[in-house]
Amino acid sequence: MTRLGVLASGTGSILQAIVDAGLPVALVLTDRRCGAVEIAAQAGVPVEVVERTDFTKAFDRDAYTRTVVEVLKRHEIELVAMAGFGTVIPGIWDAYPDRVLNTHPALLPAFKGWHPVRDALAYGVKVTGCTVHFATPEMDAGPILAQEAVPVLADDTEQTLHERIKQVERRLYPETIRKVMQA
Ligand code: GAR
Repeated sequence: MTRLGVLASGTGSILQAIVDAGLPVALVLTDRRCGAVEIAAQAGVPVEVVERTDFTKAFDRDAYTRTVVEVLKRHEIELVAMAGFGTVIPGIWDAYPDRVLNTHPALLPAFKGWHPVRDALAYGVKVTGCTVHFATPEMDAGPILAQEAVPVLADDTEQTLHERIKQVERRLYPETIRKVMQA
């Protein structure tokens, strides 16, 4: 059985969906104290907080990435699924080439970056969605595994639209992770 590690920083609702789908999560790793830590604890999944203390330009990204990789290796993780991880760690690809998955709340290659839902609304698109892809060192890039469209409604706010996109991610991401694990 492939040992799956999930990286998260937020409320952890995507992590919850992965757990609820019955995928065997061997480790949850976060970069801060967040909802995902509680969800992991409640699910009885080992959790490691590799706390990021520096959010300035001086942040030693390479050192931080090395620590993350060390922790993943210590837990013998073979496949990594990013589920709203808030720190960019391109170096992870060296340790896990073609073994890092990501879900992004936009139809890539449109609206890369940290505010894809806000940016889609600001642009005025009528359809956005989510993308599950293999991560590469370039942010929000890499071979696309699955995509699904979500219509933008006239009265949408960033929050309402993101929640409808997440409803799709909670189904599409676990489904896609399972396919990769079975491949
Ligand atoms: C998800 O929408 C995920 O696609 C997004 O963070 C959310 C996590 O939700 N990831 C990114 O934006 C990464 N660039 P959650 O905290 O409720 O699980």
